[in-house]
Amino acid sequence: MSPSDATPGLLDRVPVVPVVVVDDLAQAVPVARALVAGGLPVIELTLRTPVALDAIRAIADEVPEILVGAGTVLTPGQAKEARDAGAQFLVSPGATPALLAGMAETGLPFLPGTATVSEVLAVLEAGWTEMKFFPAEASGGAAFLASVASPVPAARFCPTGGITATSAAAYLALPNVGCVGGSWLTPKDALVAGDWARVEQLAAAAAALG
Ligand code: 3PG
Repeated sequence: MSPSDATPGLLDRVPVVPVVVVDDLAQAVPVARALVAGGLPVIELTLRTPVALDAIRAIADEVPEILVGAGTVLTPGQAKEARDAGAQFLVSPGATPALLAGMAETGLPFLPGTATVSEVLAVLEAGWTEMKFFPAEASGGAAFLASVASPVPAARFCPTGGITATSAAAYLALPNVGCVGGSWLTPKDALVAGDWARVEQLAAAAAALG
């Protein structure tokens, strides 16, 4: 399998990939179920809390209808740990040659992070055409991606970072954007309160952007 064959469809499953920070393991399965109920059967669980790997494991075991991935993958070791916990895809905020190789070694589809044209070219050079654009708003937003589309048409993006329900549409209208990522669907206060109906509603609104 060539590198670009290893990431089919990651950008084309849902218009918005929910980026989720879980502080309490008990939130993991209900938040995944609420996203599915709202029409978004994909979840990127960030490796930013001590329970993140267990949360991935719980979702992989108990919510088979969702595609569960690990976000904030910073090292080859984390990529392997996430794969072993049941992650079905990986997302990193940036991409060094070692991290790219480590993520590729897991055999999982992944989105390496890029924020400049040279970083985009480096990822393309390594054989990968689908990538994250992070931090999207701080790095030039939709205007940056619109400017890159013509000179670098091979690259396709999932912009993430600072995107909201309101700004998502401008990204999704671009030819080189398959989906956007964002944490606005799973606000911390809703997770703490167990307000799964609110998460479902936010997910349904995001799913309708597609
Ligand atoms: C990420 O990990 O991709 C971002 O932290 C998510 O960005 P947001 O919280 O601004 O949506």
